[in-house]
Amino acid sequence: MRYSDEFLYNLRQNNPIEEVMSSYVHLKKQGRNYACVCPFHADKNPSCVVYTDTSSYYCFGCHAGGDVITFIKEIENMEFDEAVKLLADRAGMIIPERAGEDVSKAYKKARILEINREAANFYYLMLSKKEGIKGVMYFKQREIKPETVKKYGLGYAPDSWSALRDYMNSKGFSDEELIEARLCQRSEKGTVYDIFRDRVIFPISDVSKNVIAFGGRIIDGSGPKYLNSPETYVFNKSKNLFSFHFAKKSKPERIILAEGYMDVVALNQAGFENAVATLGTALTIEQATLIARNTSKKEVVVAYDSDGAGRAAAHRAIKIFAEADPDVTVRILDMQGAKDPDEYIRKFGEIRFKLLIENSQDAIHFELEKCKENLDLSKEADKAKFLKKAIYVLSEIPSPVDREVYVSKISEEHNISKDVIVSQITRIIASRKKAEKDLKWSGITARTINHFSSDDVNPDAKKYPKENKAECGILAYLFENPERFKDIYERIKPEDFITSFNKKVYSVFADRIQSTEYFTLSSLADEFSGAEMGKISEIMAKSQDITINENAINDFINVILSHTGNVSEIGDLTDDDFLTMVEKMKNNK
Ligand code: CTP
Ligand code: MN
Repeated sequence: MRYSDEFLYNLRQNNPIEEVMSSYVHLKKQGRNYACVCPFHADKNPSCVVYTDTSSYYCFGCHAGGDVITFIKEIENMEFDEAVKLLADRAGMIIPERAGEDVSKAYKKARILEINREAANFYYLMLSKKEGIKGVMYFKQREIKPETVKKYGLGYAPDSWSALRDYMNSKGFSDEELIEARLCQRSEKGTVYDIFRDRVIFPISDVSKNVIAFGGRIIDGSGPKYLNSPETYVFNKSKNLFSFHFAKKSKPERIILAEGYMDVVALNQAGFENAVATLGTALTIEQATLIARNTSKKEVVVAYDSDGAGRAAAHRAIKIFAEADPDVTVRILDMQGAKDPDEYIRKFGEIRFKLLIENSQDAIHFELEKCKENLDLSKEADKAKFLKKAIYVLSEIPSPVDREVYVSKISEEHNISKDVIVSQITRIIASRKKAEKDLKWSGITARTINHFSSDDVNPDAKKYPKENKAECGILAYLFENPERFKDIYERIKPEDFITSFNKKVYSVFADRIQSTEYFTLSSLADEFSGAEMGKISEIMAKSQDITINENAINDFINVILSHTGNVSEIGDLTDDDFLTMVEKMKNNK
């Protein structure tokens, strides 16, 4: 689907990137540009630069980058259309009718959302019918109040192969559509049947309150305890969270992360609107980032089940949060006497749960306790093992002040001199720093934990480093000097480009620049993914430090046109080499 270039141009003009970004991050003026601590990876220094000239941003740490639309897509976890809408609303603009082209995907999405809304309605209505008595009884037994059922739109899928299908057919939704929405399935014999049968239903919503999927819990009988919708056009399991829309709306100081849907519903009912859960999968970095970013205190309380599996999952969650955002405080609930938050609240009430949160230990304490697992500390050998593990945990604490507190604690508890502990920690940190330095690539830390892996975007770049640099040089030049397009295009065509990604960028660029006078980075945003926009911004960002002139362009074109199809023997040009090469070209004129 495409918006007119004029509309996108105006959208961007009306949403200056520095203004939009400053409501998410703290921007510091840096010459003509701004810099900030990158919100997309665990960043300490301001690695993310905001270029006012080109209205783009680029992070030198994690390679995230793009224009204002890409930024909103990534930070709000939105689709392109939603980001456009947000920005249009922000600027008080009206979104024009879309220009033709492929609207089928958008149409399908809209259709699946309609289907989901109607299906959720059906499951909910079942609770007031005699087929749904089982569902009503179940919620009653779990002490879920009718108003909570209503708030979440909980429901019941009757014990029937076609109840939903018949209902949906009668509302004008075809079998094909129901299959596409993953609510029905076709049997080998060809009959279409309901997937959710005799289960209580938990609709899963996104931030805009669209129903994007369902979880269905078994009531009795056989089969898996939960069925969850598989991913569809509208459902991405790693980027959404159960009940996140309620949590976000409550503008919480901290978010409670539980394991089960039922835990979250019970917590919500008890007044904890800030509870969320993952969607039948382990916590992802995207989810952790989303959680951290939506708390005013940058704090999360992990309230996983108190069994072994829950503790192991909590341990993994701590690591994921640390990767997502080193500043987030993670607390771990220790629910003595109950297996999960749902049971805890039912047994001890919400006031005690609140106290539990307030007195909960931070993640470091939890991790240190975990080091004692399966060890007998009265034995010297086990004590040594414990200390080894504990020192490793301590070495990972980012703040020296926090570290000092725990060093003292361990030293006292286990009667070991502080100096010994400190020197061990210093050694570990030093060797880790060295390993990181080895990974550094011209000032850019390659140790990124995010999804914007730039090599994935243009895998050919490794094979043809020289050609890649030349192509990037041309693209960067054209972004800055679009009026030079015609001349250059006469001499080199997209087909001549060697690496596939650059070829696509050049060809889309050519297409857009010829069809509009409003060429901007945004003109490309609907054609490329977030990671790809990151790469494009990177190309532009790197070119800011050098002046590419016509001579350099001639050389770039020659490099590409004289490419023989052989893999370049020059090996991978570093950025510095590239800059030197360009400088040389400039001086040689
Ligand atoms: N889960 C799943 N598939 C299963 C079991 C669990 O997807 N077969 C996911 C669900 O998202 C579930 C979460 O893991 O909510 C936690 O599982 P569990 O603790 O077993 O379920 P609860 O929701 O806590 O349900 P209950 O309290 O009713 O046992
Ligand atoms: Mn549970």
